[in-house]
Amino acid sequence: DAALRPSLPKSIKPDTYRKLHGKLLEVRRTLGNQPLTLAEKILYSHLDDVEQSLLTNTDNGRSIRGSANLKLNPDRVNMQDASAQMALLQFMSCNLDQPAIPASIHCDHLIVGEKGAESDLSEGISTNKEVFDFLESAARRYGMDFWPPGAGIIHQTVLEVYALPGLMMLGTDSHSPNAGGLSTITIGVGGADAVEALVGAPWELKAPRILGVKLTGQLNGWAAPKDIILALAGKLTVRGGTGYIVEYFGEGVESLSATGMATICNMGAEVGATTSIFPYTKASERYLLQTRRAEQHKALASFRSWGSFDFRPDEGAQYDDVIEINLSDLEPHINGPFTPDLSTPLSAFATTVAQEEWPTTLSAGLIGSCTNSSYEDMTKVESMVTQAEKAGLRPKAPFYITPGSEQIRATLERDGTLQTLEGAGGIVLSNACGPCIGQWKRQDDVKKGTPNAIFTSYNRNFRGRNDGNPGTMNFLASPEIVTAMAYAGSTTFNPVTDELTTPGGGKSFRFAPPQGLEGPRTPFVSGVESLQALSPDGPNPGVEVAISPTSERLALLEPFEAFPEGDLEGLKVLVKVTGKCTTDTISAAGPWLKYKGHLANISANTLHTAVNAETGEVNAAYDVDGSRHTIPDLAFKWKARGQPWLVVAEHNYGEGSAREHAALQPRFLGARVVLCKSFARIHETNLKKQGVVPLTFVNEADYDRIAAGDDVSTVGLYDMLRAGGRGDVSLRVRKADGSGEFLVPTKHAVSEDQAGFILAGSALSMLAKRAQT
Ligand code: F3S
Repeated sequence: DAALRPSLPKSIKPDTYRKLHGKLLEVRRTLGNQPLTLAEKILYSHLDDVEQSLLTNTDNGRSIRGSANLKLNPDRVNMQDASAQMALLQFMSCNLDQPAIPASIHCDHLIVGEKGAESDLSEGISTNKEVFDFLESAARRYGMDFWPPGAGIIHQTVLEVYALPGLMMLGTDSHSPNAGGLSTITIGVGGADAVEALVGAPWELKAPRILGVKLTGQLNGWAAPKDIILALAGKLTVRGGTGYIVEYFGEGVESLSATGMATICNMGAEVGATTSIFPYTKASERYLLQTRRAEQHKALASFRSWGSFDFRPDEGAQYDDVIEINLSDLEPHINGPFTPDLSTPLSAFATTVAQEEWPTTLSAGLIGSCTNSSYEDMTKVESMVTQAEKAGLRPKAPFYITPGSEQIRATLERDGTLQTLEGAGGIVLSNACGPCIGQWKRQDDVKKGTPNAIFTSYNRNFRGRNDGNPGTMNFLASPEIVTAMAYAGSTTFNPVTDELTTPGGGKSFRFAPPQGLEGPRTPFVSGVESLQALSPDGPNPGVEVAISPTSERLALLEPFEAFPEGDLEGLKVLVKVTGKCTTDTISAAGPWLKYKGHLANISANTLHTAVNAETGEVNAAYDVDGSRHTIPDLAFKWKARGQPWLVVAEHNYGEGSAREHAALQPRFLGARVVLCKSFARIHETNLKKQGVVPLTFVNEADYDRIAAGDDVSTVGLYDMLRAGGRGDVSLRVRKADGSGEFLVPTKHAVSEDQAGFILAGSALSMLAKRAQT
């Protein structure tokens, strides 16, 4: 252990690896040495009680996946500024002196991208000063690492600093699985889950199934790691990974860079996967060294020599399903608009644009972000810009670059890459989320509502996601394809086959396939002093956490009331929603991000882009007297009237992010139940943590029988909760139009712990009670 101690980042406990080693041996003994996948090795070595988790409800260990309730002890928690506010407010209500495990806060989501890094950052700091001061003071008070605005995007920083093979982390952001690129299991969660881990309570997860993705061959030409996940998203759809960990294996893995693997894991969120992971390869090793972690590299080597962990699946490990992708045949893909699983190969894209009547003019190209701002990505783009520059070409569409961290930015500047991109007219935005999360004040004069097409190397493309304009179609592609399109100014350009005409001489120019460097020749540099992390040695009870009582952006939390003794009576359907209802629909980001720490104020956006199934209107709901309101206005009215309610919806309700506000806000406004055809995993868990009961239809046709305004009471819910999640629940529906009543049978996935949360009012109410006793 002593040999390991100086080698670990100080925010990992020194005995972490020793414990994991011991736990994995115990897991192997318990399961009779059956071969395990890499994901299983890492997850199960974080179990709180190996036997209890692996042998209960699992046919004595024979069917763990999909059945066992894993109670896990994560190694650390990473939080981004938007979600950290609520997580910290919740943590503060537990009255503890310090978190039970290391934690970090990353200020990235609140910086708007507009003119360029310098002015955007100082503008962002002054607009959000109150929130950043709160986060920094909380970090100092409780002994957490604090990454100031401009330091970088959470997932990039975590990959560069905290990710280490074999660890398990929670991140309060759905793209946290990015760290799977360095063989770290990282799961995106809401703030309430993060708080559970921070107070030292084991964190519960239904044992995921494992989807093996076998990579053969080798990428070539224009195909990039991004294309692997774009193609996979097309195959799996946005729901195909639900309940699964996606584990990559096969000889094709060996040819990928660590950052390329991270891009793929990052976008596993787009297929709904619990997380994604790659084995530890030579490239992972190189990345550790390039990011100046020689000591961790040495520690890992000795850890591996103990023999329990090699950060690869065991010989003979079984996957629940296997998808094979031959990288040698893979061509670039373009996904979108409006959903990340609408995948079109580059060679068919121009035809699809014509068929679908999508815009042929490109209005902007944006590269970088947490998904694709690696050294490899940027040097590949640099190689294209250099070729184009020689031919006298300039990008025809505005071209934006978002570095993922100060470390990557400073290294690209040191090596001249950034200057090349800027020299071609590229606008470098600050090291923050900006346009990736709706924080984009467009300079190119595209009016709200105007249909237009942008290409980005980001990960998500829901309507309005980038610039708040529902008319903007975001097509996801690799940074290289985005760059090619920016030079063409067109969405139908194919850089593999098409040529551009050079100015003046009118010669034909064709891009040669991009060439990049996997990493810098000399290690990364950390960059500007003021953008480095603050890393307190421990908690400091003398620090006062900065919250003004008159703040419009931050407010201490009031606990939710406990579940009544008996079934719920007199609920009303607030609105019946049709179509996609993502966490963006339930709690929009963009300008609303500023109210993340003020539950009452942010609740004014609740479901405000939801489509009313009965009228087809966006954001319209009808009171019992027939008066029309916005959905949040009616919810506020009903809250004031003491009228509890439920929402009825279709499939994959809560798809998208880990945003717990999408559960907190409805709960705050009086929702007790969400009834739908199916849920997205993280959101379903978030609802239960906030004391809202998620139910799905046994017969989907019942969706058509229930309507807004109907009166609903639960049958069997209280008994099910009291029995720790055992038992059936149905809903008695009395039609608002007086046409009678009927019973709707439902399904639920409430575990014993979750039943406790719901009965206590919320997970926080239960944890606070526990922490204080
Ligand atoms: Fe930020 Fe999330 Fe994008 S971390 S850069 S918004 S996907």
